[in-house]
Amino acid sequence: VKVAVREDVASALPLMENVLRDGRALAADYPLVFGGARSGGVVTATDAGEVLSTCAFLERTILFQNGTAKIGLIGSVSTAEAARGRGLASSVLECAENELRESGCLFSFLWADSPEFYAKRGYLPLGSERDYELPTSLAGRLPVYEDVREATAGDFAGMHSLYSKHRQRADRTPLESAALFPTPGMRVFVARAASKVEAYICFGRGDDLPGVVHEWAGETQAVLGCLRHLLEAEGRANAAATVFLMSPSEALPVTEQLDALGACSATGVLGMGKLLNLAAVAAEIAMASDVGITWRTTDSGACVMTNGACEIELSAREMSRMLLPAAGEREQIARVEEHLGARLNGLPWAPFLWGLDSI
Ligand SMILES: CC(C)(COP(=O)(O)OP(=O)(O)OC[C@H]1O[C@@H](n2cnc3c(N)ncnc32)[C@H](O)[C@@H]1OP(=O)(O)O)[C@@H](O)C(=O)NCCC(=O)NCCS
Repeated sequence: VKVAVREDVASALPLMENVLRDGRALAADYPLVFGGARSGGVVTATDAGEVLSTCAFLERTILFQNGTAKIGLIGSVSTAEAARGRGLASSVLECAENELRESGCLFSFLWADSPEFYAKRGYLPLGSERDYELPTSLAGRLPVYEDVREATAGDFAGMHSLYSKHRQRADRTPLESAALFPTPGMRVFVARAASKVEAYICFGRGDDLPGVVHEWAGETQAVLGCLRHLLEAEGRANAAATVFLMSPSEALPVTEQLDALGACSATGVLGMGKLLNLAAVAAEIAMASDVGITWRTTDSGACVMTNGACEIELSAREMSRMLLPAAGEREQIARVEEHLGARLNGLPWAPFLWGLDSI
């Protein structure tokens, strides 16, 4: 069996569609992997030319309040039913991780249907987000915005510049945004004033994010106006319906308004991640310290950090929890700070991935 990154990304599609979509088309859901504005790829495991297992990957630069980093996304992991249990998905995953590591990614990230499978392969819940539950009855308490309608291609450039104002986001080119906004199975509403796009919201995303507003940007009242429009429409179809809204863990004016209206929210986990480059992450931690820290890696894949007097050994998991703790908890950072008598400024990182970036 040959496991490799494939130039012809379409070779992976029949298996992915068969395993993940009951035969329905999948390429249009992930234009950055399969489309013209491509920046990702696929790995396949083939036997005599037949694709038995596969996955997609995508490099992203993420921007957040206190820095930027390159991470890799992995998705659509699938193995033909008759070939399961032979370690093929494990090999495909490892090949994608190696590819991402070589291109400078510090972590790989995925959104798993089978978390146990990934937990056994080094993934752990990492990062945080804030999730809101919006009953359709909230509509009447949101501002009315005159001009709200479904987005058309002419709105995409304006939507991209609003997206680019978020501090927590994946860097996207205008071309990438224009490829992502028409994703099938998604409804996009824009609020406009004087023929300028003031805000947009993206609702649902095929099989991936049903019932969720997973991306939004723009002026606060205009975003809330889009939400009102959506909640009214959903409420007409089913008064008991609830819409979910994903947001970065950091409070933004829109979420502050939702809080003020009494909307329910909870801190959640961003996804499952795995550290790909121990040395690069150790360097980030050492750089964050206000006292001089040196470090070395061990043969067992851990890292020893020292301030010259005391040292502490940290596993890849512990280091992951310092940069990207699940739901923002700070225990691991505090433990290292105490041990080394240091302050780690700017940790944890607080990145967020808007829904259109996931693969
Ligand atoms: C999950 C999946 C990709 C695993 O593929 P695989 O090539 O069998 O993976 P591996 O052989 O490397 O590992 C298989 C593991 O799953 C277990 N397993 C689950 N279902 C199995 C099956 N039908 N046959 C054999 N093993 C199975 C194995 O025991 C093994 O367990 P381990 O974690 O203790 O090692 C595959 O079952 C699949 O395509 N599932 C449907 C799609 C899916 O859920 N994808 C994940 C999207 S996030």
